[in-house]
Amino acid sequence: MRILAIETSCDETALALVECTGGLRAPKFSVRAELVASQASTHAPWGGVVPMLAKREHEKNLPRLYRTFSANTLPTPDLIAVTVGPGLEPALWAGIEFAKTLRKTAFPRVPLVGANHLEGHLASALLAPEAARRAANKKLGEMFPAVALIVSGGHTILLSVSSLRSWKKLGETRDDAVGEAFDKVAKMLGLPYPGGPAIQALAAEGNPMAVPFPRPMLHTKDFDFSFSGLKTAVRYHLASEGVEARRKKAKADIAASFQAAAVEVLAAKATRAIRQTGARSLLLSGGVAANTVVRTALAAVAKETGALFFAPPMQFNTDNAVMIAAGAYLRKLRGGRGVPLRANGTMSV
Ligand code: KG4
Ligand code: ZN
Repeated sequence: MRILAIETSCDETALALVECTGGLRAPKFSVRAELVASQASTHAPWGGVVPMLAKREHEKNLPRLYRTFSANTLPTPDLIAVTVGPGLEPALWAGIEFAKTLRKTAFPRVPLVGANHLEGHLASALLAPEAARRAANKKLGEMFPAVALIVSGGHTILLSVSSLRSWKKLGETRDDAVGEAFDKVAKMLGLPYPGGPAIQALAAEGNPMAVPFPRPMLHTKDFDFSFSGLKTAVRYHLASEGVEARRKKAKADIAASFQAAAVEVLAAKATRAIRQTGARSLLLSGGVAANTVVRTALAAVAKETGALFFAPPMQFNTDNAVMIAAGAYLRKLRGGRGVPLRANGTMSV
């Protein structure tokens, strides 16, 4: 099944054409074409994504991106999938309207379906080379039950995944998402948006044990997270240290200490989730999974607990349309009701 996917839930405009084969037992994804246009520089002066600006940029980017995308004659898709949620509703609408027009004008006989952004992030773990290898050897089944950790700018979710047909939420953040905390702390430190990569780079020069920031909800018996207190602790630390904390070395220490606190909580909860559910693998995905310290720590969790570890190749951690195609393929195979073509900002996984 050849899927043309469109993603506009936040500040990335993305298109992909993905050849999906193998069914639910051994799904394989072969990317025929892929494009992502980041709006980071548009939102940077505001220190975060402005929904109406995002909508306008998507409306501008989509036709431009599609022209580049279709410059090499592309085969007709069997299915068009567009992200309908969760995300910023004005941004989602831009994608949905574009998808409808594209279908009407270019592919009138091709079905158009709504896609869930979080299912895309979840499916993106199957883009890991190791998952592709297992699918090719029909050994993908051995990875279940699995625990999935989705860490992005909008979400921090732990799932217990019994198969590609069913999963259940174990816990999620009660306030800020972990990526949001990275972005906000970056802003406090005067780093550019998006903050995640900037914090990671600065943290590499700092001491992760320099400031004993809190590890919110580290020892609670549930699988929920909270990152707003950690962010506030950084703010208080900056205020109390004053000018001193604004020196380059002090900032690097703060970035490293903040990152270490966030990573410790993610790792501890993932460890407990794997042990408690008897999971055979850990799937890590979402924009924050691009962080090498996060990735290394979660890979170590998998090793310690005897689980396999799957995380997407670097370019498929942050928002992209390849993961949307992958998620849409699995949903199509599961059957059941389609997702309405209506923006749904708070859609759950
Ligand atoms: O998945 P994503 O592209 O969009 C959402 O669905 O939210 O994730 C974006 C988030 C942002 O908060 C960004 O700062 C964070 O992922 N991020 C990182 C890194 N790269 C992106 N956070 C930490 N370290 C990184 N290297
Ligand atoms: Zn995302």
